[in-house]
Amino acid sequence: HILILDFGSQVTQLIARRVREAHVYCEVHPCDVSDDWLRAYARDHALKGIILSGSHASVYEVDDRAPDAVWALGLPVLGICYGMQTMAQQLGGQVQGSNSREFGYAEVRAHGHTKLLDGLQDFATPEGHGMLKVWMSHGDKVTALPPGFRLMASTPSCPIAGMADEARGYYGVQFHPEVTHTQQGKALLERFVLGICGARPDWIMQGHVEEAVAKIRDQVGDEEVILGLSGGVDSSVAAALIHRAIGDQLTCVFVDHGLLRLNEGDMVMAMFEGQLHARVIRVDASDLFLGQLAGVTDPEQKRKIIGGLFVDVFKAEAAKLKAGSGGHKGATFLAQGTIYPDVIESGGAKSKKAVTIKSHHNVGGLPEQLGLKLLEPLRDLFKDEVRELGVALDLPHDMVYRHPFPGPGLGVRILGEVKKDYADLLRRADAIFIEELRAHIDPASGKSWYDLTSQAFTVFLPVKSVGVMGDGRTYDYVVALRAVQTSDFMTADWAELPYALLKKVSSRIINEVRGINRVTYDVSSKPPATIEWE
Ligand code: XMP
Repeated sequence: HILILDFGSQVTQLIARRVREAHVYCEVHPCDVSDDWLRAYARDHALKGIILSGSHASVYEVDDRAPDAVWALGLPVLGICYGMQTMAQQLGGQVQGSNSREFGYAEVRAHGHTKLLDGLQDFATPEGHGMLKVWMSHGDKVTALPPGFRLMASTPSCPIAGMADEARGYYGVQFHPEVTHTQQGKALLERFVLGICGARPDWIMQGHVEEAVAKIRDQVGDEEVILGLSGGVDSSVAAALIHRAIGDQLTCVFVDHGLLRLNEGDMVMAMFEGQLHARVIRVDASDLFLGQLAGVTDPEQKRKIIGGLFVDVFKAEAAKLKAGSGGHKGATFLAQGTIYPDVIESGGAKSKKAVTIKSHHNVGGLPEQLGLKLLEPLRDLFKDEVRELGVALDLPHDMVYRHPFPGPGLGVRILGEVKKDYADLLRRADAIFIEELRAHIDPASGKSWYDLTSQAFTVFLPVKSVGVMGDGRTYDYVVALRAVQTSDFMTADWAELPYALLKKVSSRIINEVRGINRVTYDVSSKPPATIEWE
């Protein structure tokens, strides 16, 4: 077990992901935990080491420091960026503020033979010095080493870019090993957690199933659970896991708002009811949703209507299940597919206020309103881990590795007013696009274009354009194809799909979907565009 203390950097989560990728379990907690909390945590979790994250602030703007107990536990500590600066300051070194920031690519020279960096290099200088290609982002810097430390790394503009006190297992790096631009970053973090801390690489999803199942059984006992199944990765994996643990004590509620992809409702039912033999209640609410959306064109208003109705419909079903009937005594738990990034973000001590670009569809607050206890079996897991867990639970690969789909569904992919006819056209066009993405294999990587993109879909544009088909004139609708590549969905690049693929998709859509006579490709990145069109 490794503890990451979060000083508020944008990339703290990435530290945790890299550590987990080394198969070591770790958790992120705010930097201002108390000494008592930390001592108890270290004892209860067989703590092996601590990582202090970076911060968006300067040591001179904020007085965040690591709890004193960090230095009294006798455990290895790695400070990253601000984490290194606070380490230096707290242990008797010096940090100097600066008005200029060093930001981006840098080449760092390694010094001495530390356990952390020795032999780790991207290239060597003619004089034989080992060099690392790294990513830096800082203004302040350490200007005097604390007693007991020696120099571990430097750059021309940052003479102390790394420091080490190997007797105590304390290391500081001014650059960010957690971002992929730091080429040896993953290796560095692995060395720290496996080599220096001696943590065991035993965090694997295959082995986690039994533990997770036991935990759910323990928490739920003989009570009953409701889960809102959407067909997305998180709710599907949560459902499969809970079903494995408690079988028929789980009831899934699947609300079909009429804005799902082609055949999606049937596929979800076939999987969960047909194959897993789970209890699933399918609520066909498409008339209700489409009725309320009639005449509404404003994107935010559409989102609010869909989100609000979803909660109403789900609540009505949940109330029935809570009351119990026919051999079921009534549910007392509501299960949700909350995952670790949601937990860190909402609990983060440093979370900043942001403007609302789009009001996201979510069901926070439902358990209290319904008077149900909360069951969140995925709340310790990152998305990649949820997927691995899904595979370990025998869910089909295509379901587990599917692209994300927004809660409001096709409602935000039909621009302006949502109509059933539009949704039907869009579903068919979108299915063709996805089918072709899966069928086209990139020779260089051997992967399909579906796997090479992070999200891909079709958008319905309610405008008509003139075309010609055979001898006749057509006057039909337009669709846009959207395919993006991103690692965090905060920024995204449009995917450079092969022309042959675009050509095939376009000709199939126009030939097979009567009512669409023009296909366009969206070449906007995020920012300034967003991934969805509404
Ligand atoms: P944007 O369009 O904001 O989308 O660039 C970023 C990611 O979020 C997804 N998205 C949603 N997901 N409920 C969701 O669960 C929503 O209301 C919602 N709106 C957007 C979008 O598909 C993309 O992956």
